[in-house]
Amino acid sequence: MLNPDTIKKDFPIFKNIPELIYLDSTATSLKPKIVIDKLREYYETYSANIYRGIYHLSERATEEYEKTREIIVSFIHAKSSEEVIFTRNTSESLNLLCYSLGEEIIKKGDEIATTIMEHHSNFVPWQQLLIKKGGKLAVIKLDKDGGLDVLHLEKYISKKTKILCLTYVSNVLGVANEIKKIIQNAKKINPSIITIVDAAQAVPHRKVDVQDLGCDFLAFSSHKMLGPTGVGVLWGRKTLLDAMPPFLYGGEMISEVHVRNTKFKETPHKFEAGTPAIAEVIALKEAVRYLEKVGLKEIENHEQKLASYAIKRLGDEFKNLHVIGPKNAENKGGIVSFYFKKYHPHDVAQILSEKNICVRAGNHCAMPLHEELNLTATVRASFYLYNTQSDVDALIDGLHDVSRILK
Ligand SMILES: Cc1ncc(COP(=O)(O)O)c(C=O)c1O
Repeated sequence: MLNPDTIKKDFPIFKNIPELIYLDSTATSLKPKIVIDKLREYYETYSANIYRGIYHLSERATEEYEKTREIIVSFIHAKSSEEVIFTRNTSESLNLLCYSLGEEIIKKGDEIATTIMEHHSNFVPWQQLLIKKGGKLAVIKLDKDGGLDVLHLEKYISKKTKILCLTYVSNVLGVANEIKKIIQNAKKINPSIITIVDAAQAVPHRKVDVQDLGCDFLAFSSHKMLGPTGVGVLWGRKTLLDAMPPFLYGGEMISEVHVRNTKFKETPHKFEAGTPAIAEVIALKEAVRYLEKVGLKEIENHEQKLASYAIKRLGDEFKNLHVIGPKNAENKGGIVSFYFKKYHPHDVAQILSEKNICVRAGNHCAMPLHEELNLTATVRASFYLYNTQSDVDALIDGLHDVSRILK
């Protein structure tokens, strides 16, 4: 069984700040020592640019960089390394799709379907593209239990829908959508629909198999899964990637440049212009190895246990506090968002911060969802493999203090 007290010892930040209660891994995760050491190893022992140098340091850096791609291939069960593109983050992966794929295939009158629970990075690019092209955004709403209204997909998807983009796990509600089933049903309505999954809150916390999900594209960020900042991943079906034009032009993405024309490299390199985040990509593989060593199933179960415990205590002990999203932790990741009727979320987070408890307050880059729920902001506590039950106890004690102070 996963032991968070043992895991904590692998994260130097807990040694440096023993009193830290970090409940904001949805925003970004903490980093284990092996990831930090790997960054240092690159800078101290083979710090060179990749692909370019015919000398040992550059060859070693290139090898380490490409090894991470192979590790991601097996981690998400892609078919080949040609399907795995390194970007800067989930937002850039989704923008790449919007500019490269969306610009090509969306015409006046076309539709894109998305959901009301998207993070802005899987909402705004599509909304803006449709404003420019004169198309329509169909937004799948919530059902009465706080999940997605997937029983009425035909209300949102038709033969005109070119793209369906949806989040796997909501970064506010914590709900894990039934991606595989939704994609199957969407493809029954429109077999040529292209499906894009925002897996920023899924890949760090549960086993994700792109072939099993049946999606066409999937995006996630290294910094939310124990890896360095500055790296994102876009996985896509090779046939689709082959047909897409580059997103950014520049060095390393070309095979020939002449005064009048340019030939681009094949995928994934045609989508990776310029010098990438070399050290960060290299170190990402240590994060994946760490997650696999602990076990994704173990991590998922651990987070669900903490979320259930938190939801129960919040419900039992606070009369004026409301948890949003499904109350049943079974179909949820380790994310619990809530609000007090009378206290502003920023005040709540500020008081908790004085007790070294880090939670997020605001709209969590999901304004359409908050508008739908008639809220301007919520408080969000999120759990990861290093969180303990006593972290939840500290949160509850902190919230009792909040009630006393703000009453
Ligand atoms: C569901 C979801 N999608 C996308 C993002 C954007 O990720 P990034 O900031 O790494 O681009 C986030 C970040 O919180 C997220 O939670």
